[in-house]
Amino acid sequence: MQKNIALIWGDCASPEIIAESVHVLDRIAAKYGHTFIYTDVKMGGAAIDAYGDPLPQSELDKCLAADAVLLGAVGGPKWEGVPGDQRPEKGLLRLRAGMGLYANTRPAKIWPQLAPASPLKPELVEKGIDFVIVRELTGGVYFGKHETVEANGEKQAIDWMPYSEHEIERIARIGFETAQKRRKKLCCVDKANVLDTSRLWRAVMHRLQPEYPDVAYSEMFVDNCAMQIVKDPSQFDVIVTENMFGDILSDEASEITGSIGMIPSSSLGEGTRGLYEPIHGSAPDIAGQDKINPTACILSAAMMLRYSFGLAQEADDIEAAVGTVLDKGFRTADNMSAGNRCLGCKDMGAAIVAAL
Ligand code: IPM
Ligand code: MG
Repeated sequence: MQKNIALIWGDCASPEIIAESVHVLDRIAAKYGHTFIYTDVKMGGAAIDAYGDPLPQSELDKCLAADAVLLGAVGGPKWEGVPGDQRPEKGLLRLRAGMGLYANTRPAKIWPQLAPASPLKPELVEKGIDFVIVRELTGGVYFGKHETVEANGEKQAIDWMPYSEHEIERIARIGFETAQKRRKKLCCVDKANVLDTSRLWRAVMHRLQPEYPDVAYSEMFVDNCAMQIVKDPSQFDVIVTENMFGDILSDEASEITGSIGMIPSSSLGEGTRGLYEPIHGSAPDIAGQDKINPTACILSAAMMLRYSFGLAQEADDIEAAVGTVLDKGFRTADNMSAGNRCLGCKDMGAAIVAAL
């Protein structure tokens, strides 16, 4: 199989994890006789430095021409001062919108080997942590109007949080369908006691629910959900939620699995061309120190093989290799616990390649 992959190397420590992911992809290509053709794309801080724009059209076009996009992470202190619509993160938002990627899937699954690294009590971890957050990715407050105005002699800032029924319906269906492929439980997380958008979400969910009679459907306010995720994460199978709630809850959900450095994500729209990225940031504090955990990015590459290229066996192979490396007691600084061996980013990447 031949596939074109756009690589967004990203900022700060991000290029280090993309480099290891490419090593893994090259190993898979050699092992299974595939050809992966890479195109480098600049986005975020790197694009601001090169073009004065976090995502020029030429770079978006490269992503649209690829079969899938693999991204590390963007942003960093260097670009902190730039105006809101020119920040590195704006490039990522424009990429998600430009590729029509409204469905972001973020698994929160604990590797049994990492149980000691979880901040939760062992008895809670033993009950199991294996759920998926289906996050709406191209709507809500992220894409509403942002404005700062003068009102009554002081500044007033307004962020709009719009949601249309069709935007809710298409992500709701992904939520129901994801549940159907798993333990058949779907929880809609919202703030329907306060927000109109949440009340509209619930109305759409109720309209669709009869089409998925095999799915046990429930609803939860987001504040309660944040609490339940640390109180008893075993209760969740699939959570479907709006953009910002999904952003916040997915960081929380990743941390209880031992480290945010282990969690990949996929972003898809219509069709199979997707964007794959770890859910963590660009880790400016450890950039250039060979300390960042490449696993989330490598597992994102595995998701790319599975969901965009239909290469399930190859994806299984990468996930098994990560398991083998953890079995050997190899860790990175973010998920170290007593008795393990701490590797740098390059050595962790090499260990995963070796296990393939
Ligand atoms: C994420 C990140 C982004 C988001 C930032 C970098 C804009 O936190 O992918 O979770 O908020 O979506
Ligand atoms: Mg986030």
